[in-house]
Amino acid sequence: NNPPWPAYRGYHEFSFAHETMGKRLPTILGKAIDDTIKTLNEQSKEESMVDLLQCIERMQELMKDLQANAKLRPVVDDGEGDVALWNKELAKYFRGKTFMDAPWFFAEAYKYRRLHECFSISKHWKDYDVFFRQKCDTFSRSGTAVFELSTRFAEPFHYEANASEDEKVKARKLIFHELTQICLWGNATDLSLLINMTEEDIKSLQSTGGEHLAATEKNILGNHIDRIWALLSNIKDGRLDFVLDNAGFELYCDCVYADWLIQSGIAKQIRFHGKRFAWFVSDVTRKDWDWLLNSMMYGSLFSTATDDQLQSLRQLAVRWKNYEKEGKWVYEQHPFWCTGYSFWSLPSEAPDLFLHLSESDCVFFKGDLNHRKLTYDCQAPSQTPFDIAIGPLASEDGAPPVVSLRTVKSDVVVGVDEATAARLDKEEPGWRISGKYAVVLLSEGDAE
Ligand code: F6P
Ligand code: MG
Repeated sequence: NNPPWPAYRGYHEFSFAHETMGKRLPTILGKAIDDTIKTLNEQSKEESMVDLLQCIERMQELMKDLQANAKLRPVVDDGEGDVALWNKELAKYFRGKTFMDAPWFFAEAYKYRRLHECFSISKHWKDYDVFFRQKCDTFSRSGTAVFELSTRFAEPFHYEANASEDEKVKARKLIFHELTQICLWGNATDLSLLINMTEEDIKSLQSTGGEHLAATEKNILGNHIDRIWALLSNIKDGRLDFVLDNAGFELYCDCVYADWLIQSGIAKQIRFHGKRFAWFVSDVTRKDWDWLLNSMMYGSLFSTATDDQLQSLRQLAVRWKNYEKEGKWVYEQHPFWCTGYSFWSLPSEAPDLFLHLSESDCVFFKGDLNHRKLTYDCQAPSQTPFDIAIGPLASEDGAPPVVSLRTVKSDVVVGVDEATAARLDKEEPGWRISGKYAVVLLSEGDAE
């Protein structure tokens, strides 16, 4: 069940794997320790302080392992549903491997699982999220783009008065095009890459205006938006799934998109798949999901906002919370999403999840990490068709249509013609990790 191309590994110095395993992960872990110390200093009860101190000590152990390139040990049984999957994969495929010589996607995920373990075996801090502060803070600094979208989309979608059928069809297609791009570029704000962002950096990453989107469409190197529209425009009252990536602004964009997909009648239900615990810095957990909807409704995150802006945000929140109450939006968190398996193994290692997804009319995978896992994060030639690159998730009986909306932030690139990739490799050496380029790719699946 493996692709014919080698997976990226930390010791590949030519790859972003090397920089990530050697430098980025220790930096991220160092910041996580600082965050926990901050929390420690805000405590007063002896028992919980002692308990938290032990979490910090375990994080320091992990830091040593990471810096010494230690062998990957089994995950401690903390009662989570993913422990058996982790230890099976470690024993069966990656026994004796170190952080640097195991496949990158596995070793990096393993580091986040070990970070979770530092807390999950404690008494009082099992669900502590070392990245929560950072996630909330970045959203509250995203006001410009947040209000650009809320003031535009708070009122339910409607056609121009007297629009002909033909005009309605065109309008639907146009808005789909635009919202797909908003949802796509929402993935550009990724905290694991953008430590210490300024307000200006955030703004330029989050521009959502029409002109800006038209200009950035040329940066979508593999672009199946028209094919995706051909698929979705034939669906009525369907079920769509989003395998989420980042919390805060990206999740907000996902919700704006999902809102329209409900209003348009294409979907009557959307299922959102998040993570069970803190993952790759900014990924969505249940707490992030609740925080977003409730802060939009009751919070005061944006000190300079006008009453109209705040009202538009609340209007969205009311509608979205209703979708949740009515079961039109459902938040889920299967343990498989926090394992080290690539999605090539999804049908075999999480058959219940595969069956569940196979009932969807289309599964949207957001972001770079999900794309790496879809494609086995391997050195596939760039012109490899997406449905070949994702293996069983395209070819297995019952495979649903799969869409990847990804800004390119790591080495693997598929669904892009050879000449374009070769030109960029030559002219813009950092293009695979800059987040400036994107792919929007569809596999039609193997459903009846
Ligand atoms: O550490 C590398 C990485 O896993 C890449 O996939 C990407 O650079 C980033 O972290 C996560 O990006 P995203 O949030 O889009 O999955
Ligand atoms: Mg992420």
